[in-house]
Amino acid sequence: MTKPKRYLVTSALPYANGPLHIGHLAGAYLPADIFVRFLRMKGEDVVFVCGSDEHGAAITLRAKSEGIEPQDVVDKYDALIKETFEKVGVAFDIYHRTSSELHHETAQDFFRVLNDKGEFEKKTSEQYYDPEAKQFLADRYITGTCPKCGHEEAYGDQCENCGSTLSPTDLINPKSKLSGGTLELKQTTHWYLPMDKYEEWLRPWIVDGKLDGEEHHDPKEWKQHVLGQCKSWLDGGLQARAMTRDLSWGVDVPQELEGSEGKKLYVWLDAPIGYISATKQWAKDKGKDWETYWKDEETELVHFIGKDNIVFHCIIFPIMLKAHGEYVLPKNVPANQFLNLESKKISTSRNWAIWVHEFVEEFKDRPDLLDTLRYYMIATMPENKDSEFTWKGFQEANNSDLKGKLANFVHRVFVLSHKFWNGEVPSFNTELEIACSAEVDKTSTYAKETDEILFHLERLSNFIKKYEFRSALKEFIRIAELGNRSLQNNAPWALIKTDEEATKTVMNVNLQIVVALSIAAKPFIPGTSDRMRSLLNLPEVQVGDLDKFIKDLKSYSPTLSSGHTLNKSYHLFTDLKDDWVASQIQKLEDSQETAIEYPELKEEATFDDFQKMDLRTATILTAEKVKKAKKLLKLTVDLGFEQRTVVSGIAEYYSPEDIIGKKVVLLANLAPRKIRGVESQGMILMAENEKGELGFVSPTVGMTNGFTVR
Ligand code: MF3
Ligand code: ZN
Repeated sequence: MTKPKRYLVTSALPYANGPLHIGHLAGAYLPADIFVRFLRMKGEDVVFVCGSDEHGAAITLRAKSEGIEPQDVVDKYDALIKETFEKVGVAFDIYHRTSSELHHETAQDFFRVLNDKGEFEKKTSEQYYDPEAKQFLADRYITGTCPKCGHEEAYGDQCENCGSTLSPTDLINPKSKLSGGTLELKQTTHWYLPMDKYEEWLRPWIVDGKLDGEEHHDPKEWKQHVLGQCKSWLDGGLQARAMTRDLSWGVDVPQELEGSEGKKLYVWLDAPIGYISATKQWAKDKGKDWETYWKDEETELVHFIGKDNIVFHCIIFPIMLKAHGEYVLPKNVPANQFLNLESKKISTSRNWAIWVHEFVEEFKDRPDLLDTLRYYMIATMPENKDSEFTWKGFQEANNSDLKGKLANFVHRVFVLSHKFWNGEVPSFNTELEIACSAEVDKTSTYAKETDEILFHLERLSNFIKKYEFRSALKEFIRIAELGNRSLQNNAPWALIKTDEEATKTVMNVNLQIVVALSIAAKPFIPGTSDRMRSLLNLPEVQVGDLDKFIKDLKSYSPTLSSGHTLNKSYHLFTDLKDDWVASQIQKLEDSQETAIEYPELKEEATFDDFQKMDLRTATILTAEKVKKAKKLLKLTVDLGFEQRTVVSGIAEYYSPEDIIGKKVVLLANLAPRKIRGVESQGMILMAENEKGELGFVSPTVGMTNGFTVR
């Protein structure tokens, strides 16, 4: 046996701010899982790490919107995501968390090393701090009096009244727009990574695969779209990037460093270090040495990610690793593009998604459908361009490939074997002529047929090594097609009547095909592989089984030996009916209806635009229906200094008697217009909800009519 190769495989750490959908799965997890399962089967030395990304705005925004603490958010989703991965068969060696103590230490140590080596540039500036909101504020969140014109509501970057450009420190009496409170001026120091400084080695590393003059990897093995993105970043010129933030949630900047107070590591500095801390934890649990996986040059580091993460994994993280000095750089970053769903972009906010935890829950008693999901997602994987998931496609993959080609073949072989020889694997004769599975009416032999199997297994292996999983999956199905044609061309159910010897050889070939399928299935649809192995009465596919199968078959002493007893078979997959597909589509559409769709923000308005509108407080005095207009009410409103007639489209929501005496806000300088013959002299402000229902915008009782609303 040759010495196993060492691999460290990572999948992007998902933000623990929500559940996983199929787009995540297709992007960074399923491809990594196939790759790793294949390497394990080959007996390579591989560690597959992942974990929750628990810092950054993704988490704090979610906490804010749910009204809970960031820690509660990450605890909830970390557990859900971890469980989902287990159920869908993505088999990490460890699923870790960036909120763990080990990770905080690891990230801080890493930061210290870069800092000690002088890799950062520190820049200090004075910024306003809101002690109530406990954060530094961006310019637009600060208002105060303009030093030029005395306007009291100037912004931190500009006075809308006199048009002067300002900086927050110019304002008199600056206030926070967040809390309304007063501000403190505080110095803030941040650590910047001068990315341009590293271009000298980074460019040749990306473009030529050369690191410090030596061959590192073959850039031709990288995906075109990944290289393209990297090159355009390089060509655009790299800039210094702040590696720290003024935040309350995240990994602390090491406390002994000056200016570290209240500062956290930038989430994109902290998160990829999560791969390292995950490896450390795994090594600790397993009694292994984490450093060989990260620091020995023979390790192949491979990052599986989605295309939105390319710059972080191909530019920023490599810079960090190289600047640190002890780490290996990735050999490849086979990023995937995006998966669309039923011809629309997957959207969390619109709930246009298939949530993996819901799928695995709904079909927890259907191991076949769990594998159909994996199979179909591999078949449509967005390897080089965006691709699409449709329920119709799911059905097609299930019915035509998994049921039509795979399950039918396996079942027929088993039924015939039981019928002819009570489930005993028949012997074979290499001297005999049988019909060829490749082409009709040509003769073949046991050797030729088994060669054909080996040919596809070899191609499958090579495709997986090249991260071409769609093509690899096609080779898998080609093996089943081989079996189907062998049955068709040899017709063993008829042949048995005239030539049992030849029938035995044909059926032995077909049983070897089933074994080949059970092995080839392991990386893609592991549950199906296990089910096939139990039909075959063989243990689940283990390390070395692929190579052993190939070697044994070549020397005509197949792993599945003559005389071995098979178990009784059943259909591994069953047809999915059209109404099943329709119900899945319906479910998707229904779930979207319940999701709130927010109207898009309108084009930016200037302060002047806003100032033009004269909004006044008013009271409704009279209200009556407008004849022949279902939606309209004719109102008289009191502005204090005068009365107005207004026609308002609220009759569906309010009856006249209910709104008399109501306080409202009137757009008082709107040009009058005739509605159903009545001149409307202004417009009453109404709020609208997602169902299109209207409600009054009401000033508090006690306001005097006729005064402005600003
Ligand atoms: N959480 C990030 C995302 O979902 C990915 C982080 S990958 C890591 O886009 F390398 F930073 F960990
Ligand atoms: Zn001004």
